[in-house]
Amino acid sequence: MKFCIDDANVEKIRRIYEYYPIDGVSTNPSILAKTGRDPYEVLKEIRSIIGEDGELFVQATASTAEGMVEEAHRIVEELGKTTLVKIPCIPEGFKAMKQLKKEGIRFIGTAIYTAMQGFLAAKCGAEYVAPYVNRIDNMGFDGVQVAKDIHDAINANGLDSGLLAASFKNSQQVLELTKYGVKAVTVAPDVIDALVKNAAIDAAIVQFTNDFSGLVGEGKTMADIIH
Ligand code: G3P
Repeated sequence: MKFCIDDANVEKIRRIYEYYPIDGVSTNPSILAKTGRDPYEVLKEIRSIIGEDGELFVQATASTAEGMVEEAHRIVEELGKTTLVKIPCIPEGFKAMKQLKKEGIRFIGTAIYTAMQGFLAAKCGAEYVAPYVNRIDNMGFDGVQVAKDIHDAINANGLDSGLLAASFKNSQQVLELTKYGVKAVTVAPDVIDALVKNAAIDAAIVQFTNDFSGLVGEGKTMADIIH
């Protein structure tokens, strides 16, 4: 399963890339707006941080299929072939997807709240489809189950697509889909940090450090005592 960062804050992306096994960065217009910066400058900076191999997800913002296709050309020309264009799963978006598929431009279906939206995007040739897990939960439905239904529908129909599950607010939502073997998840920095942050882990590390210091001396590590 690929594991991506759902954010456009370059300091956070740099830090998380340094520590965790990350495959890419996803953005959307709202995420870019939170930076308050020139979006193209932000995207170029993210590309320089993640390198040519990292997948960068950039959303088309036009309201027509023709506009989305034109944006897709510009996005991929300027940000590289490992940039995937996020196309909203609305009628104009599906029309754009069919054209992008013919042209061999990589894209993902986004803004997915229902399983059939995801299925249709996969059928249009989307490399990934992005259900918004927590937003679906907040509507009173089961976001993890909708994501699993899309995963199952893709596999049952032999489509060459998979999830980039998005909109997570807690580690349990991420775990459920990790166990299910989805293609990818994209997770906000605070939720990524929370995956490995709890008092029990911190206490265990403090205990190990104290016990070893008591044995061999303050500040000494294995590198100091091996002879
Ligand atoms: O990429 C889509 C995703 O960012 C939505 O997440 O946290 O705004 O529900 P959120």
